[in-house]
Amino acid sequence: MSQFSPRVFSGIKPSGDLTLGNYLGAIKRFVPLQKTHACIYCVVDLHAITVWQDPKDLKQATYEVAAAYLAAGVDPAQHIIFNQSQVLQHAELGWIFNCVARMGWMQRMTQFKDKAGKNAQNVSLGLFAYPSLMAADILLYKATHVPVGEDQKQHLELTRDIAQKFNNDFASSIRSNGFDENYFPMPEPVIAGPATRVLSLRDGAKKMSKSDASSMATIYMLDDGDAIAKKIKKAKSDPEPLPGEVDGLEGRLEAANLVGIYAALSDTSPQDVLDQFGGQGFGAFKPALAEVAVAQLAPIAEEMRRYLAQPDEIERILAEGAERASQIASETMKEVRDIVGFVS
Ligand code: TYM
Repeated sequence: MSQFSPRVFSGIKPSGDLTLGNYLGAIKRFVPLQKTHACIYCVVDLHAITVWQDPKDLKQATYEVAAAYLAAGVDPAQHIIFNQSQVLQHAELGWIFNCVARMGWMQRMTQFKDKAGKNAQNVSLGLFAYPSLMAADILLYKATHVPVGEDQKQHLELTRDIAQKFNNDFASSIRSNGFDENYFPMPEPVIAGPATRVLSLRDGAKKMSKSDASSMATIYMLDDGDAIAKKIKKAKSDPEPLPGEVDGLEGRLEAANLVGIYAALSDTSPQDVLDQFGGQGFGAFKPALAEVAVAQLAPIAEEMRRYLAQPDEIERILAEGAERASQIASETMKEVRDIVGFVS
């Protein structure tokens, strides 16, 4: 038996309009975990500012992520929704982890390489240190499970490396302060379901992203029904009919993506979708997909708009969540300060 009680932590950056990728890869999957785990869902604004954010837009995007959590069915009374910058211990533990993590570990992060591109000398230092702040988010709450999309897998591996190195580096202090030698848990990524990597609707080689320049490539959570239907109609596909078996989607990135989206939206599997649509072309499949997408997303968008019309209510929920998160975070930091040897 682990000494850690099961606890979920995950976060989303308020750095642009939320996408269907964020919804299917993360938010939709946050909801059922509430039945089995204590859950903490964060709006990671400290991560957002690793690239430039206009302050006005940052505030609005923070409300939007909180509204999406609430509209999708996260319950702030039973669980915790808050924004990262209101709980100061994230930055504090993030700094300690900057001193545990190694430069070489950060240099290997594919997301950093993708985001920095040819401009690596001119990006913020925060962007480079991003994964160690992410490790702090998770380990501050000794979270055991982290639901994320596929693109976060490497960051979760690094989180485990940081936890392990902290436990090793400070082993004797951990012991002499009376803690279990596995002071930080090894959090498990929860990357599951048919839509862990939703692709761009225009280019099957790219993931769907908040920052795509083409709005036709991306379904946004706040798109109206007409926009969703139009984007699906124009989505890149291929001339072949859908296969009867999942193996037949091999090498057909765009087709596999649309089938995965259908399966995730309707809580079935890609094989179930092919049992229904195998042998049919995209002329038949796309309208059915649009119908499912609008039926699922429209009520959530409506609920998000309802919350967004009451920013005071969102602020109240975030402040209350921050207070509860701070209680857990300050307990951990008290221990960590003793372990590291800070005089308090
Ligand atoms: P962010 O804001 O980029 O993405 C939020 C979540 O959405 C998932 N996601 C996708 N899933 C499937 N297909 C896609 N096209 C797609 N695009 C995004 C991401 O995998 C993620 O789960 N580093 C995190 C934020 C973070 C965090 C944390 C997450 C900060 N601290 C602690 C978990 C735990 C990120 O980039 O989020």
